[in-house]
Amino acid sequence: MAERSIYDGEKQEAAISTESLATRLKINAAFASVDFNDWLFERLAVRPGEDVLDLGCGNGAQSLPFLEKVGPDGSVSALDLSESSVEELKAKAPAGAPLTAVAADMADLESVIDDVFPTKRYDLAHSSYALYYSVDRSQVLDVMRTHLKPGGRCAVFTPNAPHGLVEFAARFHSVQEEIYECFRFGPEVLKPYFDANFDSVEVHHFHNRVRLPDVDTLMEFYSATTYYDAGTADAFRAEADRIVADAGAFEYEKNGYLIVGRVPG
Ligand SMILES: C[S@@+](CC[C@H](N)C(=O)[O-])C[C@H]1O[C@@H](n2cnc3c(N)ncnc32)[C@H](O)[C@@H]1O
Repeated sequence: MAERSIYDGEKQEAAISTESLATRLKINAAFASVDFNDWLFERLAVRPGEDVLDLGCGNGAQSLPFLEKVGPDGSVSALDLSESSVEELKAKAPAGAPLTAVAADMADLESVIDDVFPTKRYDLAHSSYALYYSVDRSQVLDVMRTHLKPGGRCAVFTPNAPHGLVEFAARFHSVQEEIYECFRFGPEVLKPYFDANFDSVEVHHFHNRVRLPDVDTLMEFYSATTYYDAGTADAFRAEADRIVADAGAFEYEKNGYLIVGRVPG
């Protein structure tokens, strides 16, 4: 399983850890200028009765609102590599909600749909902040696309440059190439794939600013990222201390890329 994700060892732990994800979501929710889910859901236009596939669902940041929006006549089929995140999602979902959530690698999506998910065709196949972790992205996209209903849509969200915190971290250590590759993933991989395979394609650019009030919060967030480097954390912190003393906060820009493709109706 592990060899099919871009990370292994400690980096994979940071990428799939339920605790790290919860820390990042909590800090973003408190200190980001734009609420990501509000922005995303405005563009996904999910309707009652729809069947939704959610890949890299984590602990349910999108799966839970999907459940609310599709209501009792729709369904949510959710998948994540992290067993504990999937368990948390199931525990948070209302009793009797039309949710099937499984711990699996998205590279195995085809067999999970065939063997586990009761719903086999979707109005919306979605993945936020997750598809780029898979080494089999094109194959995963093919499975998402070929399991859409007529007129169905596929939506993928991925981070994009510039990212102020990554730029700051890069002043202290060399940030792994996977992070920069992830920033190029939207325009360089998703866009050509969507243009070649979907009837209509929309791109939405997400712009956010995060204003952290103190260095402890910054270090809590930074240490929950895949680009954290313990060896240079003291120097990182000392420079952040200077910035917060000077500016009253640590503020940075964060961007993202949402692409939505529709198959013919
Ligand atoms: C940044 S989180 C995003 C979770 C959720 N979509 C959200 O926005 O909060 C990325 C998720 O992708 C999952 N993931 C990483 N590699 C995966 C893989 N190969 N197959 C399935 N899930 C994977 C991780 O476990 C993690 O929960």
